Amino acid sequence: MKIAHISDIHYGQQGFNADMLSQCIDEVNALNPDITIVTGDLSMNGLKKEIEDVFEKLKEIDTERLIIPGNHDTRNVGYLTFERLFGSRYSERLIDDIQILCCDSSEPDLDTGQIGREGQRWLKEKLENAGAGYKIIALHHHLIPIPLTGRERNELYDAGDVLKLIYDAGVNLVLNGHKHVPNNWIMESSSGITIFSTAGSASSDKLKADYLNCYNIIDLSDNRIKIELKDIGKEGKVVIDRKF
Ligand SMILES: [Fe+2]
Ligand SMILES: [Fe+2]
Repeated sequence: MKIAHISDIHYGQQGFNADMLSQCIDEVNALNPDITIVTGDLSMNGLKKEIEDVFEKLKEIDTERLIIPGNHDTRNVGYLTFERLFGSRYSERLIDDIQILCCDSSEPDLDTGQIGREGQRWLKEKLENAGAGYKIIALHHHLIPIPLTGRERNELYDAGDVLKLIYDAGVNLVLNGHKHVPNNWIMESSSGITIFSTAGSASSDKLKADYLNCYNIIDLSDNRIKIELKDIGKEGKVVIDRKF
């Protein structure tokens, strides 16, 4: 099973690189993954036209798509446009024995976020009913601080409770974006390891240090997880290669 993990498109005018997004989509289509997951910040300001335009653009991805909003998409009541076009801010998908749960972590007009009590209950119930397969959660915000992103201020408000939920349920992989810096943390959980994989920004020019526009390719096969960091237009680099 192959997953393309894209984040932080920031479709709009200021700072959005349309050519980079087109190249990213071309690369993903050439790769032909089983599914593409987009972990939020689709737009710059949650404006109606931005979300409508990015909705049309993302149709160019040939694979099935799972898409959640980020903090920028819930500005200007963008969550209403998001729901109208993309559907629920909470979605799930079972492929073979791999369970993917997508959960909105944004709060209207705030850069910070939380899963919240309702979201935590939703995740817990879904994970309890999941059986013994591989479990993936996708959200926009990070749960653990990301290096080289300056003073920490946007970690989830309820990160501690969500981390405990992830630990107790033995979630294998957590996908997020938000900081425009790719990173992977590996932690030991009740059922082995949990990888917290943050994708960088696919097409925003708000980048830090030497990081480029990029996305991740996740390969789950033969009880192994491989994560390749793919700078758009450049060679990919395997950053995680572990048994599970
Ligand atoms: Fe972002
Ligand atoms: Fe964000």
